Amino acid sequence: MQPEYIIIHRQIAPYVAQIQLNRPKELNALNLQLMTEVKEALKVLDADDGVRVIIISGNEKAFAAGADIKQMAGKTAMDMFNTDQFSTWDAIKKTKKPLIAAVSGFALGGGCELVMLCDMIVASETARFGQPEIKIGVMPGAGGTQRLTRAVGKALAMEMVLTGRFITAEEALRAGLINRVVPVELYLQEAVKLAEEIAALSPLAVKMAKESVLKAFDSSLEEGLHFERKNFYLLFASDDQKEGMQAFVEKRTPIFTGK
Ligand code: CAA
Repeated sequence: MQPEYIIIHRQIAPYVAQIQLNRPKELNALNLQLMTEVKEALKVLDADDGVRVIIISGNEKAFAAGADIKQMAGKTAMDMFNTDQFSTWDAIKKTKKPLIAAVSGFALGGGCELVMLCDMIVASETARFGQPEIKIGVMPGAGGTQRLTRAVGKALAMEMVLTGRFITAEEALRAGLINRVVPVELYLQEAVKLAEEIAALSPLAVKMAKESVLKAFDSSLEEGLHFERKNFYLLFASDDQKEGMQAFVEKRTPIFTGK
């Protein structure tokens, strides 16, 4: 079935797919259907050999202004527990291929949390990041208190979560939340450029490298180092390792097949 709230470009560039959140009138507020569509699209693209990197974007005005407040407003605690809508964010976390968020305008609440689930973040100068849930009587529920704190440290995370203050793209860059800031007319192009650079590398090595970096967030150093080493050794079972090293020896550009 055709998705209603997202647009999927399977090949925006070679081996690069894009999922565009598309509920512009509601500033891409993340209702249950939209998030389910993102989850399903990622599952399909993650299994597609013609895709190596996935960009998630919104539009110039908003990446996403958060979970859909109107959809949540009348819910009871038991409704929330039973629906467990934020489990979609957990499912997205399982994506093996690199995710790049291309952010312009608002990335708030669940929108900021979705951005932080991505592996790299390219922002336009107009991007604003925030966890304003406190202003509507709740708090972040899809990783905002955890991933934001790990990314920017306690001082700024506490301030953002307790006051709801939005930070600019420049401040987010300085705080280590995002990778780069470019003029608004270039943010998607810049994200595609970054995606193409990664898509030209061995997709197996890229996936295992991503998995290993993420391991650093929920393991001890010893466990993480062990995990990293196993993945490094495992890559010697791939054609891409042979090709990559042989190409270096022969002073030519490697051709990676993902095998
Ligand atoms: N949910 C539902 N609708 C939303 C929305 C949201 N999160 N954010 C914006 N909208 C809707 C508005 O209600 C409005 O709809 P109508 O035209 O039908 O009134 C439309 O989008 C445009 O929004 P505004 O008129 O408010 O636009 P603005 O430019 O004046 O303000 C804004 C922009 C500052 C982002 C403001 O819309 C805002 O504060 N939005 C809510 C941000 C927020 O609190 N996000 C957190 C949500 S809770 C959450 O995400 C929980 C979690 O941890 C996952």
